[in-house]
Amino acid sequence: MKILVVGSGGRCHAIVEALSRSPKAEKIYCAPGNAGIASLAECVAIKDTDVEGLLAFAKSNDVELTVVGPEAALAVGIVDRFREAGLAIFGPTKAAAEIEASKDFAKRLMKKYDVPTADYATFTDFEEALSYVKRGTLPTVLKYDGLAAGKGVVIVESMEEAEATLRDMLLDSKYGEGRVVIEEFLTGEEFSLMCFVAGDKICPMPVAQDHKRAYDNDEGPNTGGMGAYTELPFISDEDHAYAMQYIMQRVADAMVKEGTPFTGVLYGGLMKTPNGIKVIEFNARFGDPETEVVLPRLKSDAVDLFMAVARGEQPVAEWSNQATLGIVLASKGYPGGYDKGVVIRGLDGVTSKVYHMGTAIKDGELVTAGGRVMIVVAEAPTLIEAQQKARADVNKIECDNLFHRTDIGAKAFK
Ligand code: AMP
Ligand code: GLY
Repeated sequence: MKILVVGSGGRCHAIVEALSRSPKAEKIYCAPGNAGIASLAECVAIKDTDVEGLLAFAKSNDVELTVVGPEAALAVGIVDRFREAGLAIFGPTKAAAEIEASKDFAKRLMKKYDVPTADYATFTDFEEALSYVKRGTLPTVLKYDGLAAGKGVVIVESMEEAEATLRDMLLDSKYGEGRVVIEEFLTGEEFSLMCFVAGDKICPMPVAQDHKRAYDNDEGPNTGGMGAYTELPFISDEDHAYAMQYIMQRVADAMVKEGTPFTGVLYGGLMKTPNGIKVIEFNARFGDPETEVVLPRLKSDAVDLFMAVARGEQPVAEWSNQATLGIVLASKGYPGGYDKGVVIRGLDGVTSKVYHMGTAIKDGELVTAGGRVMIVVAEAPTLIEAQQKARADVNKIECDNLFHRTDIGAKAFK
């Protein structure tokens, strides 16, 4: 089978690798791909949001299955367009992807179907929003409603900060025209539960935990994710069963009832609070960097699995019982400004998996080409061994302009 994977980061590298392990994958194309993906797939220079370009490519190359990584491509309706043209594609329609694109849509759905989540109210008017905050307690959570690439959430601790943030979000249009969802501040351990979803048929992946802050001990600015691991000791089988029944299955069923059935990966960003497991957010796609630590554990044939979802059939997946842990190497300065084009060496001695996030080849050498550059993912029978192996491999990589967190997985050992 010929397969097209849309996207370019570490998540996409992990998807391509999982597909490449299947004997059914005769040829994999990746648009646009990156320097690491190029060792497993033929990279084609088409932008991930160029739906017509991608469709034309899929048709003229007899692509039988297309898998979509990034949310931007979903938001422009790539799935709707491919389906109209009669092509199999893995991912949600534009209407179903609203569960990620609009926080207000997600909150309304959860309220209507009694899915546990933080209390909230939505505003477009600055004065109304401010007076709502004044009547409540601090800290409180202000979320800009729209695809803000993870930057649209501010936890405010003081009234001055609340006012300034609301001003930014509603008056100065720093984020663009919009709405603000104001949420109750929850506390507890966060984790990610991704499920393959085909309408009301769902199948869970191992739970993972992301590390969003740039530096150790969850300090510094928010990033796209500095590392992740699977096998979370603080999530019991009962927690998992609860999250599947009252959150993931309920939402899949709700989407069918609402006339926008979901296909693809539904990502639950969940929190284990003192009052039970609650939803922080949903994403309509594979998480990054969670995918890089989850898919290496997939034992089933990825082509069969992704195809089942694309066809609306029950997805079935088997997973290894290895723990996985991934450490991101990022350019110094990230998530702010950073240099590019710095040479990376020492990968030869690395036995962990290495997924490229932002790399390029320059004059025959591997160089940095993004904020997050690569993720080193170790697999081992226990998490502590996976952590040791990932750390040892990270230390083999030579580059003058990279940094990483040294505490990925630490919360599992508390
Ligand atoms: P989101 O983009 O909705 O996932 O929010 C980004 C991050 O903000 C989450 O990963 C949480 O760490 C934090 N956050 C979001 N909503 C809440 C909430 N209601 N209570 C506490 N923290 C939150
Ligand atoms: N790891 C968070 C996300 O993919 O949005």
